[in-house]
Amino acid sequence: MLSDRFGRTIDYLRVSVTDRCDLRCSYCIPKGFKGFEEPANWLRFDEIQRVVAAFARLGTRRFRLTGGEPLLRRDLPQLVGALAALPGVEDLSLTSNGTQLAAQAVALRSAGLHRLNISLDSLRRDCVASISGSDSLDKVLSGLAAAKAAGFANIKINMVPLAGVNDGDIESMLAYCMQQGFVLRLIEAMPMGSTGQQAQGLDLSQLLDKLTRQHGLIASSRSLGGGPARYWQNADASFTLGLITPLSQHFCATCNRVRLSVDGTLYMCLGQEEQLELRPLLRAGCSDAELEAAIRSAIELKPEKHEFIQQPQQVVRFMSMTGG
Ligand code: GTP
Ligand code: 5AD
Ligand code: SF4
Repeated sequence: MLSDRFGRTIDYLRVSVTDRCDLRCSYCIPKGFKGFEEPANWLRFDEIQRVVAAFARLGTRRFRLTGGEPLLRRDLPQLVGALAALPGVEDLSLTSNGTQLAAQAVALRSAGLHRLNISLDSLRRDCVASISGSDSLDKVLSGLAAAKAAGFANIKINMVPLAGVNDGDIESMLAYCMQQGFVLRLIEAMPMGSTGQQAQGLDLSQLLDKLTRQHGLIASSRSLGGGPARYWQNADASFTLGLITPLSQHFCATCNRVRLSVDGTLYMCLGQEEQLELRPLLRAGCSDAELEAAIRSAIELKPEKHEFIQQPQQVVRFMSMTGG
């Protein structure tokens, strides 16, 4: 089992398979950004597999593929199949913007993907276009329909409410998710990098009372994944709302995860710089034991908590570089 200096067990690895994305969500990537990683520096599938296998040997049980947009990485279902077959990989999930899902849902499901989280900020075409820089709503909705049809259950919808932009869309998103059987998760926007975004995220703790009262939701202890969300359900448990509150009520004390970026850097925290480059080690032909030792030494670097509130901003990476 991997544990850090603060007694936290690290049993969740997020693996970014690309830093590219077909969208430009205002809170994630700056418009016009061109500084993406060179393909020569992307970890190959066999390298990703080695790192995941090493984490699995060290006791990590949950793995999530992220990006950028992971479905832009060619042949992703092949990687899913290879990872799902590794001993110790008990929970294999994917976070996606859904634009490519209609074509890939069946292949992902057949390859052994267990769970899907999909980003969607509004059901209004113009609002989605203004946040994501692309008229992508219809593609995402058909991707979601395809994912349901392919047999994915408890699909989670990640919504980042922004003041004056889509904060008025929470009710319609709630109704849509109730009707579709999706879990709706509201996320506080984190100030990462300088994306140029002007709109502020919401303080969700202030919204919680109103939402739970209006919809008769009660706190739920149901385990719906391994992430930092807290959940509430309605009386017959047919609908679940999740809140992810890194700013108003951070969850660093129970953080269970580290992140592997597309270039093979292991990041210890979304909001801090501690990191270890695994690619040079992998490409120098390190042994499994050396890889495991490097991972253990990286976990030693994991900081106690993020510093999003700090000014000037401490972390300059965009979300898409680290992988959500
Ligand atoms: P499950 O609970 O396993 O379904 O997944 P998850 O919620 O961890 O994954 P997802 O990719 O859907 O994460 C949703 C969002 O939660 C991320 O994009 C981040 O905004 C936020 N988040 C996830 N993990 C962390 C974390 O360690 N620190 C912070 N500050 N935010 C996180
Ligand atoms: N703050 C909070 N969440 C973010 N995401 C991307 N950028 C940010 C940010 N700055 C979320 C998206 C998506 C996931 C991959 O990351 O909503 O669900
Ligand atoms: Fe792409 Fe997701 Fe970032 Fe939006 S939030 S730009 S969909 S990676």
